[in-house]
Amino acid sequence: MSQVMIGLLFLWHLLTFGAAKEKAPFCQILESPEFPLLSKEGDVMIGGAFSIHSKITQPQLSFTEKPSRVTCSSVNLREFRFAQTMIFAIQEINKSKFLLPNVSIGYRIYDNCGSTLTSMRAAMALMNGDEWTVGKSCSGQSAVHAIIGESESSSTIVLSRTTGPFKIPVISHSATCECLSDRKEYPSFFRTIASDLYQSRALAQMVKHFGWTWVGAVNSDSDYGNNGMAIFLAAAQEEGVCVEYTEKFHRAEPEKLVKVVEVIRKSTARVIVGFLAHVEMNNLLEKLSLHNITGLQFIGVEAWITADSLVTPTSFSVLGGSLGFAVQKANISGLGDFLIKDFWETEFKCKETNNDTKAASCEGNQDLIELQDNDDDVAELRYSNNIYRAVYAVAHSLHSILKCSKSQGCDRTIKVTPWQVVESLKQVNFTINNGDQVWFDSTGAAVARYEVVNWQRGSEDSVQFKPVGYYDASLPPGQKFVLNTKAILWPGGKTEMPVSVCSKQCRPGTHKVLQKGKPVCCYHCIPCAEGEISNSTDSNDCKKFKPELNTKKHLMGKT
Ligand SMILES: *[C@@H]1O[C@H](CO)[C@@H](O)[C@H](O)[C@H]1NC(C)=O
Ligand SMILES: *[C@@H]1O[C@H](CO)[C@@H](O)[C@H](O)[C@H]1NC(C)=O
Ligand SMILES: *[C@@H]1O[C@H](CO)[C@@H](O)[C@H](O)[C@H]1NC(C)=O
Ligand SMILES: *[C@@H]1O[C@H](CO)[C@@H](O)[C@H](O)[C@H]1NC(C)=O
Ligand SMILES: *[C@@H]1O[C@H](CO)[C@@H](O)[C@H](O)[C@H]1NC(C)=O
Ligand SMILES: *[C@@H]1O[C@H](CO)[C@@H](O)[C@H](O)[C@H]1NC(C)=O
Ligand SMILES: *[C@@H]1O[C@H](CO)[C@@H](O)[C@H](O)[C@H]1NC(C)=O
Repeated sequence: MSQVMIGLLFLWHLLTFGAAKEKAPFCQILESPEFPLLSKEGDVMIGGAFSIHSKITQPQLSFTEKPSRVTCSSVNLREFRFAQTMIFAIQEINKSKFLLPNVSIGYRIYDNCGSTLTSMRAAMALMNGDEWTVGKSCSGQSAVHAIIGESESSSTIVLSRTTGPFKIPVISHSATCECLSDRKEYPSFFRTIASDLYQSRALAQMVKHFGWTWVGAVNSDSDYGNNGMAIFLAAAQEEGVCVEYTEKFHRAEPEKLVKVVEVIRKSTARVIVGFLAHVEMNNLLEKLSLHNITGLQFIGVEAWITADSLVTPTSFSVLGGSLGFAVQKANISGLGDFLIKDFWETEFKCKETNNDTKAASCEGNQDLIELQDNDDDVAELRYSNNIYRAVYAVAHSLHSILKCSKSQGCDRTIKVTPWQVVESLKQVNFTINNGDQVWFDSTGAAVARYEVVNWQRGSEDSVQFKPVGYYDASLPPGQKFVLNTKAILWPGGKTEMPVSVCSKQCRPGTHKVLQKGKPVCCYHCIPCAEGEISNSTDSNDCKKFKPELNTKKHLMGKT
């Protein structure tokens, strides 16, 4: 690993200073170039970085020879579809007579294999290109004009920080960490999804709405999970919701997960807020199934609530009835056919030998070739729309930089710099053919719009992510958050809402007494003292009973 890092540092050095040294004799990539998994040349180039494989195997380091490449395994179909969608959108724009009429768009898509180390290599490759460029001086020009990706916040942070000094725009379709809203840290970052600031607060409002004042909280130990959970916890406190426990783990920490499951098993909260990436949710789900921990009310985030990979024959007993915020669905006409039929024939040509082509070799990607026959259900294409919007946003920016018009075509003599694309992206405001309005707010994010979905039984063994409400931050106060409680099915197929409180309500005639060292939601109900009353539930105290005058007289008369 250390040798790989040294290689990267050399690259960094070349990138930063190479361009400045005008008389540099030549400029050369020290390591062998990284080839994109999928690529095509064009007048303008868009990069892509997705985690098409989700596991890496580090080679054994002998320190006697150059370390071999990391190998990637375990195809992630969802991420593969993101790459396919990106190509679909590019082809559509390429054919358009209105958008970039005279300009062809090319792409380079890299696989980061679910590792931030490989992400770093992909980021370098996207900037450098894969030419050996021996004998030439570095042009200092990036090989791509914008980068679409990545899916997870942590790898997006690596990508944005790496490309940031070169002002190359990065547009993510699913990185939601509020930390990425900082314009000083990430001046060229954009996203076609909202920051978690809204989702975290909406989660707290939902929990409060159902009267669940005693909840458990579990999050991924990542930028996504930690930031999202911190905002939720602050909002929950404001709403008067108490949290019995907060636990976190990372996918690479199975021992920690065992501990988390133990905490859940011993807890009394019936509701769990899971701020988890779908990988960690999958790990947790497996463990809960194994220990028959079922019937809990899960409250989920956009990252897992509609993840197909969580739907297994046994998962419904654990996650049935889950409620959460999902990225809105949208129709992209022609995409379904493209994903199933057209893609393989036209696009996926890894080459038996990759001497000449700029595609990755088939050898390491046999599993992708086998996928061809996988006729997976493509009904839930939620994030794909975000990819689609991101590609269109880049195209609209380039369209305005190149001063394109339908009659005159584009001015192809203009040399586009990535920073121009950044500035132009800040201005875009357009409508795509399915009616979606696309623009970025001052932090570079899209407006927060979610669908509230509920895990219900579909036909046979399938799971239906039934819409039961929505959250739309662009609407006026009072209309932003709507829930259709009657349509919800609760865990265990029940029609009755679960109750999750630390203490039962105090009846009128009693008052709350907090328990020392326990959260404010845990209390005893003590009857009012003589001469005092409380006429509402959950009274904090009893009021002195003031008899009215005539009653007083009557009482006095009696004595
Ligand atoms: C874009 O269009 C040109 C000209 O029709 C074609 O040669 C090229 O392959 C297309 N590129 C993509 C990415 O579809
Ligand atoms: C879980 O439930 C199944 C069937 O109800 C049972 O066979 C299994 O032993 C249980 N496992 C545990 C860990 O309780
Ligand atoms: C998508 O298209 C189908 C059929 O054309 C339609 O029933 C559905 O309402 C559309 N969904 C959205 C979100 O527009
Ligand atoms: C690929 O390169 C190797 C060595 O660089 C060479 O022996 C081989 O003939 C080349 N194959 C093709 C198809 O050009
Ligand atoms: C496309 O661009 C070329 C070269 O810049 C130009 O000669 C041609 O007229 C353009 N075509 C259209 C249809 O705008
Ligand atoms: C985008 O344009 C629409 C009209 O086409 C306008 O209503 C909306 O306010 C604009 N949004 C921004 C952020 O400029
Ligand atoms: C409780 O008593 C107060 C004052 O006596 C009165 O204003 C209030 O309406 C009563 N509340 C209920 C729920 O009866």
